[in-house]
Amino acid sequence: MKFAHITILSLLLLAVYTAAKRLPTHEVLPTPILIHAVKGNPNKYIVENVWYGNGYEDDDKVTAVFKCEAPVKVNATDQPKIFNDRRAFFELTVPDSVKTVKCRRGIFDIDSFRFSAVSFPHTK
Ligand SMILES: *[C@@H]1O[C@H](CO)[C@@H](O)[C@H](O)[C@H]1NC(C)=O
Repeated sequence: MKFAHITILSLLLLAVYTAAKRLPTHEVLPTPILIHAVKGNPNKYIVENVWYGNGYEDDDKVTAVFKCEAPVKVNATDQPKIFNDRRAFFELTVPDSVKTVKCRRGIFDIDSFRFSAVSFPHTK
């Protein structure tokens, strides 16, 4: 009886282990963005979009995305990168009339993506 229990338990563990092996995690995740003011130009910001993740090769393709509500302009909203770049920079031009800069940031690969809303005050 005891032996049978151990055998069943072992088989169950083997099944769980095998299932886990068949479903490797593959997930790219953003960290909070960093916003850098540009010296001498109160209408420019440099946004740093940093990511991490697991299950990636260093050279796997990912796309860093940063889009803002008009009239804020982003120099390059979609930036193709490789996983190991780990960061992308976006240059924002914010007109004086904008009080709050509202954007969406994302980091994507072929089957994992994260999109989140970001906002920050624009003060002169
Ligand atoms: C956009 O601006 C950032 C920050 O200055 C720069 O790193 C990036 O290369 C620029 N991208 C393009 C396509 O000009």
